[in-house]
Amino acid sequence: MNQRNNHRLILFPLPFQGHINPMLQLGRILYARGFSITILHTNFNAPDPSSHPHFTFRSIGDSFDRSEATPSDIPGLLLLLNTRCASPFEERLQEMMSSPGSDSVPVTCLISDSLFSFACDVAERLKVRALVLPAGGATSFYVYTILPVLKEKGYFTIDGSQSEEAVTEFPPLLVRDIPAIKLQKPEMALQLFDNMIRVIKSSAGVIFNTFEELEHPALTSVREVLLVPDFVIGPFHKCCMTSSSSSLLAEDRSCISWLDEQPIKSVIYVSFGSAVVLSESEILEIALGLADSEQPFLWVVRPRLVCDPEWLQKSPSHFLEALERRGKTVKWAPQMEVLAHPAVGAFWTHSGWNSTLESISEGVPMLCTPRFSDQGVNARYVSDVWRVGVHLNGGLKREYRKGEELRERASVLKEKASACLRPGGSSYRGLDGLVNHILRFHS
Ligand code: UDX
Repeated sequence: MNQRNNHRLILFPLPFQGHINPMLQLGRILYARGFSITILHTNFNAPDPSSHPHFTFRSIGDSFDRSEATPSDIPGLLLLLNTRCASPFEERLQEMMSSPGSDSVPVTCLISDSLFSFACDVAERLKVRALVLPAGGATSFYVYTILPVLKEKGYFTIDGSQSEEAVTEFPPLLVRDIPAIKLQKPEMALQLFDNMIRVIKSSAGVIFNTFEELEHPALTSVREVLLVPDFVIGPFHKCCMTSSSSSLLAEDRSCISWLDEQPIKSVIYVSFGSAVVLSESEILEIALGLADSEQPFLWVVRPRLVCDPEWLQKSPSHFLEALERRGKTVKWAPQMEVLAHPAVGAFWTHSGWNSTLESISEGVPMLCTPRFSDQGVNARYVSDVWRVGVHLNGGLKREYRKGEELRERASVLKEKASACLRPGGSSYRGLDGLVNHILRFHS
């Protein structure tokens, strides 16, 4: 048991899988450095306390109901969450400040998800220091900061959703990669990003789940914009290796024994994270791509990934035969364990930031089909800058390219992701800096 200090940190994640995971991982990292951790959460998509026995869990007691928002309108959903959660959050934080828990460890600071823009304003009113965690990487974050410029230049007035035109202000980005470009009314998303940046600029600092060697140029640009202390300490999931999971869905572990039976680096792992919804034609194209690949495949088909619950029965026999012979589907996988499995040779992903970083950390090359938000930027960097994956441009084409070269670069990047966490490495030093920064709050 490591030594405990006398500081409690309140962590407030946005209630979606891609945001809960990095926040709980950060909690584990800081717990290991002696801090007491309270997870303040919404009733909606509440994390499971039994997976994290060392943390205290408190609900803000919100009454948010997802059915109030249109499922495909993500900016609308986020704005509604911000509206519904602000006052319950304030009440609960106030209560926690005035009466510390049974162990009477006092609250030292709040760490809030960057998209809960009200949280830092509330903390300031209650005189609580606040740090902010964006769930994505530094490059996409920097792109958020230049969205007003891109709007002024007219990028949002054309239908950019399929445009292969270059963004001259930010190579190698293409217009189709710009976050929010696919939305009919991007104003709401731009407002969200604007709030996020404003809040971070007046916070006590920002924490990034990335590493310097991966995103140094973007981090340099972000520093010039934010002008607050930053702490680059990722990849989080590799600093806090543990068997406990933050999954909102039950993990189907049968895929691990199935992977044990497959040849080394032979399996295509297919997963599109927790939020993407696929149309009938997209699901068919993926099924045909997997059938044509001649490779074993493991495909995560979570509830609500596909609009049509009958999709499997309607699939072509070509795919069903391939599934029977060399494939497996699960509703939810222990993804980090899957990507670390020697049988996995490629990851077909939607390029969410967590998935991207998890794949980089294991040296697994990616096939990228980004959908929204930061995913276009992540996929462009995976294919054109880090060159550890292939961008499946123009829809879900069935394509394979230069496997060996990708694998070599992926294994070099994997080593960098691991080296930065060792004593003296960039993220190791970043974490020391964060710990000292927090400890100074009360001195
Ligand atoms: C969302 C956004 O869509 C994404 O663009 C943003 O970068 C973060 O927030 P999500 O779409 O869920 O996230 O994708 P991602 O960031 O990849 O996070 C998914 C998480 O779920 C990963 O940590 C992954 O390991 C986990 N996962 C996914 C599982 O544990 N099992 C699965 O079967 C699938």
